[in-house]
Amino acid sequence: MVTTLASAAEVAIERRYGGHPSSAILWNDVLSILLTHRSVRAYRPDPLPREALATLIAAAQSASTSSNQQYWSVIAIADPDRKAELARLAGNQKHVIDAPLLLLWAAYIARTERILAGRQEATEALDYLESLVVATIDASLAAQNAATAAESLGLGAVFIGGLRNRPEDVAAVVGLPPRAVVLFGLVVGWPDSTRPTEVKPRLPQASVLHSERYSTDALDEAVAAYDQTSLAFQAEQGLPGIGWISQVVRRSQVSALHGRERLREALVALGFGLR
Ligand SMILES: Cc1cc2nc3c(=O)[nH]c(=O)nc-3n(C[C@H](O)[C@H](O)[C@H](O)COP(=O)(O)O)c2cc1C
Repeated sequence: MVTTLASAAEVAIERRYGGHPSSAILWNDVLSILLTHRSVRAYRPDPLPREALATLIAAAQSASTSSNQQYWSVIAIADPDRKAELARLAGNQKHVIDAPLLLLWAAYIARTERILAGRQEATEALDYLESLVVATIDASLAAQNAATAAESLGLGAVFIGGLRNRPEDVAAVVGLPPRAVVLFGLVVGWPDSTRPTEVKPRLPQASVLHSERYSTDALDEAVAAYDQTSLAFQAEQGLPGIGWISQVVRRSQVSALHGRERLREALVALGFGLR
């Protein structure tokens, strides 16, 4: 079927907001990749093309980086035993085992420290929380570029925040130096087309976009509408019909942190100053 650009954009925006009315958008191939993103948790075991890893990392390194400090590193894991161990540490996530590649995205201040220390320069500024925040932003931008690059190649991907349940154990598995922490993983592989995933609707723009000044005027209505959109999406996907609000409530309990309530302690143990 021939699809006009206009109708492809309309279909994509309708899916992104679950049918909730939204403004017209501009459209091109990059926007098509971005708007049709969905996390993939079902993979074929097939290997990736030989050039895939270098391609994803080049895309990641093309992201903007605060003051060009490039405060991140990535560890590529293909070894099945190591993937299985990391899957266990992330709360037994099977897709980590099934996909051929797991990328670990680390906030990595250790490289800067090494450069400074080798020149007898002061490292005190690295002890401030700011350096971890900068590294976290840089690593996240890089990882998102890699994810979009993977999707543009027809690959599937899903982030793995579960690795923050056990930061010191994850660091030990891959031998991270001090002042480095794995923030999250990114699973990459060929999607299993027999178990397809759909675009998951997002909050209406009215609840995230503010014009000139912050306002809650449209918030309650937008959230209520999104709860209904989520219920419809869950029904369509055969998922438990709990809506979005109760998911937010459940995920905001300390018990849902699964060990991450001690993240500060873990970061200090891994050598971060957090001043
Ligand atoms: C930082 C981060 C960590 C995540 N951690 C996990 C995870 O541990 N396991 C998982 O299955 N999905 C994980 N996800 C995927 C989210 O659940 C998913 O992006 C969200 O539900 C929206 O669905 P979508 O990506 O299909 O649009 C993570 C996403 C992000 C951004």
